[in-house]
Amino acid sequence: MTQDVTNRDHALALDEQDPLRELRDEFVIDSPDVIYLDGNSLGRLPQATRRRLDQVIGEEWGRDLITSWERWIDRPYQVGDLIAEHLLGARPGEVVVSDSTSVNLYKLASAALDARPGRRAIVTDDDNFPTDRYILQGIAAQRGLELRVLASDPIHGPSPADVAAVLDSDVALVCFSHVAYRSGALLDMAAITRLAHDAGALMLWDLCHSAGSVPVRLEACGVDLAVGCTYKYLNAGPGAPAFLYVRRELQDRLRSPIWGWFGQRDQFAMGLEYDPVPGVGRFQVGTPPILGVSAVEEGVRLLARAGIDQLRAKGVALTDYLIRLADAWLAPLGFEVATPRDPQRRGSHVSLAHPEAYRICRAWIERYRVIPDFRAPDRLRIGPAPIYTRFVEVYDALDRLRRLVENKEYAEYDATPARVT
Ligand SMILES: Cc1ncc(COP(=O)(O)O)c(C=O)c1O
Repeated sequence: MTQDVTNRDHALALDEQDPLRELRDEFVIDSPDVIYLDGNSLGRLPQATRRRLDQVIGEEWGRDLITSWERWIDRPYQVGDLIAEHLLGARPGEVVVSDSTSVNLYKLASAALDARPGRRAIVTDDDNFPTDRYILQGIAAQRGLELRVLASDPIHGPSPADVAAVLDSDVALVCFSHVAYRSGALLDMAAITRLAHDAGALMLWDLCHSAGSVPVRLEACGVDLAVGCTYKYLNAGPGAPAFLYVRRELQDRLRSPIWGWFGQRDQFAMGLEYDPVPGVGRFQVGTPPILGVSAVEEGVRLLARAGIDQLRAKGVALTDYLIRLADAWLAPLGFEVATPRDPQRRGSHVSLAHPEAYRICRAWIERYRVIPDFRAPDRLRIGPAPIYTRFVEVYDALDRLRRLVENKEYAEYDATPARVT
């Protein structure tokens, strides 16, 4: 194999050796000329999901109607167990599929604060995903608590030392994203969780960008609480339900702030008083979206076939290749790599900073059929999801990017951001 990363044959050779290469065929890829580099935002549609949804709609709903609830009712737990086993390093009965990440974060953060009465502070960082910051802000405002927002390094995210500096005996809850949505920084889950515990606080992780892309070891790290979405690396589709994790030993001590009937013991007795089920199920609220839950199941089964360690190895190789091409071709054009270069410290996406990132992003999509996304203020975010992205796609995408920037083709595009970026 040629070692020259700027030679296309190098990419073709990497694809040839890729043990996951056949899994690409498991996805619907109707426009082979489109290079999709946004799997960290919305994953591709698995073929199996299309078949499964046809079956759920046609047979389970269309034919069997309400009798299907017998098998639907436990599906959020069954799929939660699959996620726990294959992606999160968690035990059976610790994960359930439910609601959105935002709502799950609200439920778990509120429950954690109730479990630490007398403590008045919540810790997060200013680069955490907006919904996390807003939900914590809202909870802090409602309860008259202090939200300590760490000013974190925009590339590397908060280090254990940064976190240690803001912890004290007043902190009830610490909440960070395991992989930062913009820079892709992968935080040290074990060290930060330990620090939170040493301070007597509970630890809540947002796994949206790490579930399905890096091995997560919730049990081994002693994590208390976690949430994550399924429409990114789990490929479950737009708006598919999220998951939540509660460490087994904590479950019966915590209460959801939303007392819904799907969290109720002996639900169909329709009892007068709320009496939550034992276990993680008490964090369910209302009727689960069965189509979405079924799509999550298919997505997780595919990832399980690939194996999280192989996915991680390919994620490291793809992002490493991308960074090397960016150094060779894009640095001279004003791009900066805004993602940690150490593969142990990043997830599966790479951000490139450029003052014209927004217009470049538009031109890359519209003229060159390459789909990344833009994150304010100046980042091109590139997510080559390991399960279906080829090395040669990364090569071709960056080759097109270099051409469009060299020729300033982005200048023809409007600099006003669209409704969705
Ligand atoms: C880290 C992180 N948390 C939360 C969310 C969004 O959560 P929700 O599915 O509730 O919109 C995202 C969405 O991209 C995210 O990246």
